[in-house]
Amino acid sequence: MKEYSNVTIFDHILIQHKVAILRDKNTSQKEFRELVEEITTLMVYEAFKDVPTKKVIVETPLEKCEQNMVKDDSITIVPILRAGLGMVNGVHALFPTAKVGHIGLYRDEETLEPHEYYCKLPEKVTESTVIVLDPMLATGGSAVAAINFLKKRGCKDIRLMHIIGVPEGVEAVAKAHPDVKIYVSTLDRQLNENGYILPGLGDAGDRLFGTK
Ligand code: PRP
Ligand code: URA
Repeated sequence: MKEYSNVTIFDHILIQHKVAILRDKNTSQKEFRELVEEITTLMVYEAFKDVPTKKVIVETPLEKCEQNMVKDDSITIVPILRAGLGMVNGVHALFPTAKVGHIGLYRDEETLEPHEYYCKLPEKVTESTVIVLDPMLATGGSAVAAINFLKKRGCKDIRLMHIIGVPEGVEAVAKAHPDVKIYVSTLDRQLNENGYILPGLGDAGDRLFGTK
């Protein structure tokens, strides 16, 4: 894969350790859900060192001091339904007041083309950094469609966060949206003929919600 300056792949062992358990076909639905949240929190911790800040005065038991805090309303989370929902709590663990928008997309199983079926965004979404969440970046079709949509609505600072991606998906997003920062905990080998990531973890939505 070509090197893209806007792509971050996390090689932190604490993230990789959890990804190994997540992939395992014997991992339970409960553990899968918990791991998706935990991995998301670790990625956000690593990725968002540049979040907008504000200075506040805090009174400790001993004296007053000046302290940096995260600026209000600086982050909006946009999970791509369904599987992106599994990552929301992982972001809220670090940005508890972040507003949440939803974009509903599903992939046609034959053409692999994304179809939109739902969208609801917070009022001031355009003034914030938008973190688009989806555990899987396969062909990249869903991610590109979600970003197209957010840009049409006026969003400027858009970041994409996935747990597992493949070079095809990263290339597709980086080509269509070179301004968007992409965070992927692990880059896998390839897609199979049905558009599934190899080695991957199977269908993220089904494993999160127990639908198969
Ligand atoms: C999965 C996944 C992504 C998409 C990735 O969703 O959660 O949204 O596929 O594939 P792409 O990069 O080729 O677009 P799916 O369409 O299966 O819907 P679901 O979340 O409702 O299971
Ligand atoms: N969506 C998934 O949930 N898994 C894949 O491997 C590809 C797309």
